[in-house]
Amino acid sequence: MKTYFDEIAEGYEELHREEQMKKLNIIKENLIVRPGDRMLDVGCGPGFAKEVFDCNVTGLDPSEELLKKCSFKTVRCEAEDIPFPDSYFDVVISVTSIHNFDDYRKGIREMKRVGKSRFVFSILKSSKKFDKIKVFIEKNFIVKKAINGSQDFIMIC
Ligand SMILES: C[S@@+](CC[C@H](N)C(=O)[O-])C[C@H]1O[C@@H](n2cnc3c(N)ncnc32)[C@H](O)[C@@H]1O
Repeated sequence: MKTYFDEIAEGYEELHREEQMKKLNIIKENLIVRPGDRMLDVGCGPGFAKEVFDCNVTGLDPSEELLKKCSFKTVRCEAEDIPFPDSYFDVVISVTSIHNFDDYRKGIREMKRVGKSRFVFSILKSSKKFDKIKVFIEKNFIVKKAINGSQDFIMIC
């Protein structure tokens, strides 16, 4: 089934690259990532994270059209049901995606399950679900740093 993001995939990079790269660079400054690390990018879109992080990145997204733009390992699925074993990834990130999940609680629990100890959640502040998502993350993770960006609130856990 085509998603909203499949429909807008063609113009996505032109519209969003600059802003998303800014967020990713802020994340990079605040996160330890080693070349050998396995990283999962949940809701990876066209794969901007791979341009920023020099490690073994896997992108996860339900949008087939956005995944076609990724030139690295990807898996087409939803955050609510991640097809990897427990504690498989050294680092799990999700940038401006959580508000799109049908069930953000399930998605965040799944990210926790497949990750080890480094997580980053960049949450769109203008989303109606923002407060609830933030509280849910605070209940389930130790937030080491929170950065109040222009569009997103970035939680380094
Ligand atoms: C605003 S885009 C952000 C994409 C990318 N992280 C970036 O920085 O450009 C939101 C992404 O969330 C994805 N998405 C929507 N529902 C999802 C779900 N249930 N699980 C994982 N990703 C989802 C969309 O397909 C889209 O790629």
